[in-house]
Order: sequence, then C-alpha cells, then structure tokens
Amino acid sequence: MGTDLESVLVSKEEIDAKLAELAAKIDAEYAGKELLLVGVLKGAVMVMADLARTLSNPVTMDWMAVSSYGAGTQSSGVVRILKDLDTDIKGKHVLIVEDIIDSGLTLSWLLSNLGSREPASLNVCTLLRKPDAAKVAIDVKWVGFDIPSEFVVGYGLDYGEKYRNLPFVGTLAPHVYGG
Ligand code: IMP
Ligand code: MG
Repeated sequence: MGTDLESVLVSKEEIDAKLAELAAKIDAEYAGKELLLVGVLKGAVMVMADLARTLSNPVTMDWMAVSSYGAGTQSSGVVRILKDLDTDIKGKHVLIVEDIIDSGLTLSWLLSNLGSREPASLNVCTLLRKPDAAKVAIDVKWVGFDIPSEFVVGYGLDYGEKYRNLPFVGTLAPHVYGG
C-alpha cells in the first residue's frame, strides 16, 4: 500500500458491512417518507455513493461543499460555503451524510445553517467519528465507526487532496504530515 500509509484502520469489507447495517436503519426510519441525502463534498462522495446504493427506499441527493481545513491536519474552526445546495430543503426530510467528524465544528455549523432553512427533519449519518466530537453537543443519529484520534485517509478522505480513492480507511505515516 506504499510507504505513506501506516496501517489499514477500516477495511473495504468492514465498510460494506457497516453501510448495509446503517442503510437498514435509515430505510426503517424514513419508511414512507421522501428523503433527501445531503452529501458534504468532497470527503463524503464515497460514503454517499455506497450508502445510497445500499438503501432500498428511493432518495434524492444534493451536495454542499464547505471548507474547514486547509492543506494541514488541524481544524481551523472557520467554515466557508464553497458550494450551496441546489434545492430548497424547507419541509423536507434531510439526512446529512458525512465522512468524518473530528472537532465537530463543521457539523455543528452545518446543522445550524441547514436547520434555519426549516426542514421537516434533520439528521446526521457519518462513517467515522473521532473522540473529540464528543466534546461538542451535536446529535449524530448514525455513526459507522468510532476511531482513535489519528489522521486517516482513504474512502473519500484526503491529505492534501491525495488518497481519496483508496477503497479502505488507513492511517497516514506521521512522517508524511510531519507528525
Ligand atoms: P471537524 O470540523 O474537525 O469535525 O472536521 C470535519 C472535516 O475535516 C471532515 O469532513 C474532513 O473533511 C476533515 N477531516 C477531519 N479529520 C480528518 C482526517 O483524519 N483525515 C482527513 N480529513 C479529516
Ligand atoms: Mg467532510
């Protein structure tokens, strides 16, 4: 897997099995309702694509791009909208699909931003969550894996825009980011 990666933290098989588990719960929760999945670019692309295909009920999808990180590995706390939703979410059942929650800053900002648009409901599904996320009061309904506070890449997650296309989640060797 190359010298930049230290280890495989979550394998493709584990991701597939977890998404099937989450999809069953999401299908049950939104049975008979119209669900809009909101993916957060670019990291959530893989989760969104695989989760959406695992759901049995029909959904619509929209995308938002926000920026909280530069090229580094620390959250700046500053969230900017790079691309807003194409659709009005008022009165809709919205599920935010996230790749990872670290400090939770991005998500709490997103929840208040989307919440102010008066959706019928607003929930969050994330593939990964780091321990720091517990420090902020955010209600995350579905979590794939609670992982240690390490910098991870793959399955949508990048370091300097690289590694997003890995089919698994791995830890990056500290020498790559000077850790
Ligand atoms: P937060 O605002 O600290 O919760 O960070 C949210 C965003 O930071 C995620 O959506 C990712 O894009 C990015 N991020 C956080 N931790 C990692 C990581 O370990 N690897 C890659 N990106 C990360
Ligand atoms: Mg993200």
